[in-house]
Amino acid sequence: MKKNLKEKKLNRLGFGSWQLGNTDFWGYMSIDEGIELVRIAIKKGINFFDTAPGYAAGLSESIIGSAINDQRENVFISTKFGHTADGETDFSVFSLKEQIYDSLERLETDYLDSLLLHNPGMDILEGNTYHFEELEKLKEEGLIKAYGVSIDTFEEFRTVLDHVNVDFVEILFNIFFQDASELFEEAHQKGIKIIVKVPLDSGWLTGKYDEFSEFEGIRSRWDDETIQRRAALVREIKDITGAEVLTKYAIGFVLSYPEVTVVIPGIKNLDQLNDHIENSTYILSSEIKQKFIELYQTKIKDNPLPW
Ligand SMILES: NC(=O)c1ccc[n+]([C@@H]2O[C@H](COP(=O)([O-])OP(=O)(O)OC[C@H]3O[C@@H](n4cnc5c(N)ncnc54)[C@H](OP(=O)(O)O)[C@@H]3O)[C@@H](O)[C@H]2O)c1
Repeated sequence: MKKNLKEKKLNRLGFGSWQLGNTDFWGYMSIDEGIELVRIAIKKGINFFDTAPGYAAGLSESIIGSAINDQRENVFISTKFGHTADGETDFSVFSLKEQIYDSLERLETDYLDSLLLHNPGMDILEGNTYHFEELEKLKEEGLIKAYGVSIDTFEEFRTVLDHVNVDFVEILFNIFFQDASELFEEAHQKGIKIIVKVPLDSGWLTGKYDEFSEFEGIRSRWDDETIQRRAALVREIKDITGAEVLTKYAIGFVLSYPEVTVVIPGIKNLDQLNDHIENSTYILSSEIKQKFIELYQTKIKDNPLPW
């Protein structure tokens, strides 16, 4: 018997799966290592997996599919639509079903717990297309249990709240990108569940990088000035917390917002998984939270960092 959304009680610590098998973007990870990582995560109580067809050209979904086995009913799989495993961008409403079937095959399942439109354009977010009607039909058919959007900015979030009905919003939110929190309560009132992506600012908010760090893969996008600025901000966070390792403060900050349903740090290995599990009971004090908010308001808000 398939469980519905309410029956699958989500652990607030989820698993960001962009890194699974994604050697080009995030450094080497074999398929077997990925499968093992997902299996151990499930054993340790993580039950929400965020993935997408475009992650590692379909490998992220396949790794999850191989790892899940008899655990399907205990696990919540959220994948995306719009960027295919072949590297194409295709938001055509007519290809929705085909793309979903491709994902189901890789995930070795016959339904998705959630399908998110993967950074769709404003036209879709404004409700000017048939996407959400079609998604509603697919929900009635049972192919998907829920749907929503994965977006980056306050403006996109505002547009979604004003124009469309969705079950989930996945939003970029962390100590360096705080604008979205203004909309959390409104989203919650509308019954929207919030997934927070990039909670560690792609690794910076762990505290392990500084102005001398060099980056490859997807993180080679940062220029020197951006790296210097992030490094200086990380130093300020170390001063606020009195700690060198910041991961628990960064995740704790996100989870200090009660409207957040699940946070999905990208996890690359067992050490990182164990670290998140160990810290999952940590509660950020309101004093430190307030200082993170002040840091954002005074040093970042008027001059936002590039992602
Ligand atoms: N458009 C979209 O829909 C979209 C965009 C971005 C992300 N996402 C989703 O959100 C998830 C999270 O975002 P993200 O992965 O980009 O950024 P993130 O979670 O902020 O950072 C992930 C990186 O931080 C480092 N890290 C993670 N846990 C750690 C730990 N305990 N200790 C030390 N380092 C740790 C790892 O990299 P290193 O060890 O190499 O530093 C990891 O690759 C993704 O996996 C994906 O599922 C979705």
